[in-house]
Amino acid sequence: MKARLSIDKEYVIGTVDERIYGSFIEHLGRAVYGGIYEPGHPKADGDGFRRDVLDLVRELRVPIVRYPGGNYVSSFRWEDSVGPAELRPRRLDLAWRSVEPNAFGLAEFARWAAAADTRIMYAINLGTRGIDAARNVVEYCNHPGGSYWSDLRREHGSRDPFGIKLWCLGNEMDGPWQVGQKTPDEYGRIAYETAKAIKLFDPALELVACGSSNNEMPSFPHWEATVLDHCYDSVDYLSLHNYLNNYTDDLPTFLASSLGMDAFIDSVVSTCDFVMAKKRSKKRMMLSFDEWNVWFHSKAADAKNEPWQVGPHLLEDVYTFEDALVVGCLVNSLLRHADRVKVACLAQLVNVIAPIMTDNGGSAWRQTIYWPFYYASKYGRGTSMSVKVDSSAYENETYGEVPFLDASAVLSEDGATLSLFCVNRAKEPMELDLRAAGYEGLKLVEAFELKHGDLKAANTAVEPDKVATRVLDVGKGEGAVILSPLSYTCLRFALGRQ
Ligand code: AHR
Repeated sequence: MKARLSIDKEYVIGTVDERIYGSFIEHLGRAVYGGIYEPGHPKADGDGFRRDVLDLVRELRVPIVRYPGGNYVSSFRWEDSVGPAELRPRRLDLAWRSVEPNAFGLAEFARWAAAADTRIMYAINLGTRGIDAARNVVEYCNHPGGSYWSDLRREHGSRDPFGIKLWCLGNEMDGPWQVGQKTPDEYGRIAYETAKAIKLFDPALELVACGSSNNEMPSFPHWEATVLDHCYDSVDYLSLHNYLNNYTDDLPTFLASSLGMDAFIDSVVSTCDFVMAKKRSKKRMMLSFDEWNVWFHSKAADAKNEPWQVGPHLLEDVYTFEDALVVGCLVNSLLRHADRVKVACLAQLVNVIAPIMTDNGGSAWRQTIYWPFYYASKYGRGTSMSVKVDSSAYENETYGEVPFLDASAVLSEDGATLSLFCVNRAKEPMELDLRAAGYEGLKLVEAFELKHGDLKAANTAVEPDKVATRVLDVGKGEGAVILSPLSYTCLRFALGRQ
């Protein structure tokens, strides 16, 4: 099988905002307790942060981490998460029906984020709370001192403000599962008023309004249009969430699901632009795809979970090789929309539907989905280039015509390297015919491949590297490029002198 991939140096999608390689830590399951934080673990540092987990997070180079939820945030009192840990209340978290001891809170997360070399994207509770709690937490986090909340932070031991720039105005407020679900008008109004208060404090802060929880919500995209009618001028991003599954064990449909992600993004872009036109606005709304991943393996086990535990085993999907192929396609979809998607969070980061897993008291390892995310995060910074794929295709009931090749391309910030991220959806090898206009002297210098004979192969504590990438021999970089059957490949080309 042959596939042609045409790119032209003149055809640019947009600058890749590095924040599309963001992730997410929620107070859910073992993300915090037993994940990033486990005092007493042999690898824990003085703060109780697991150093083995920190190493993997740093290796993944996530520039932002959304926190502290998720559904958790909608009945969360931020005041419970600050001050001396021994005085913080234990609370029942209604979202995940767990006990939250608040042993790890805001200051701990700020310290962890610094150690992980990342920044915080903080979600505010607009479910059970409102403008007052929102403005107070912003003041607590960001004001240097000389006011009630900023002085309280200093009293609590954090002299310097946390300097959080990016704020989510609630989470999935359209969802019936949310504590404090809202109609689009109710949410649009509260989002607008909260945004107003936050921007009065500091107009440079960036705000994300909640879009629909997914594109199958009955109110999608009416929700987006109505919410933006209220707050278009006051917010900077609209959120998208999407989780994919393969319950029916239907590989062709599962592998094609990035076409659904492309269509979802396109329809949200259209809705935002409709509101822009309606308002005669000059501002173009940007998107925050702040929850995306594959999520289904753990649902049956979670249905049997005993409530009211601290750090229960919840949402612990063990990812397979085929999940990694899908995640490779999803990252490509984000890159193909780099002009509008400026923030994205792989949900989540540790233990909970995550690229990194741990055993309590034991080791930490990389799940299969770690790899496509790792290569994109490492080599996919710079300019996203338009890619025209001409490959044969298969017909799919859900997605129509699906090309066997899925690809994205990024020109590095220094303009010296072109990276291609390719998924071969076919069960046979694919010869790549790369037509690159304006890139003289292009030479393949490195290639990394993820493939496995067993689509259901997974990494575990016992076999942490069962599914791992291998470096391909590219010789002098002049031979044909062959993508293995059902594989993910990252190809790196050096540009000759221009
Ligand atoms: O990431 C898990 C959950 O999925 C989040 O808490 C929620 O926002 C979404 O429904």
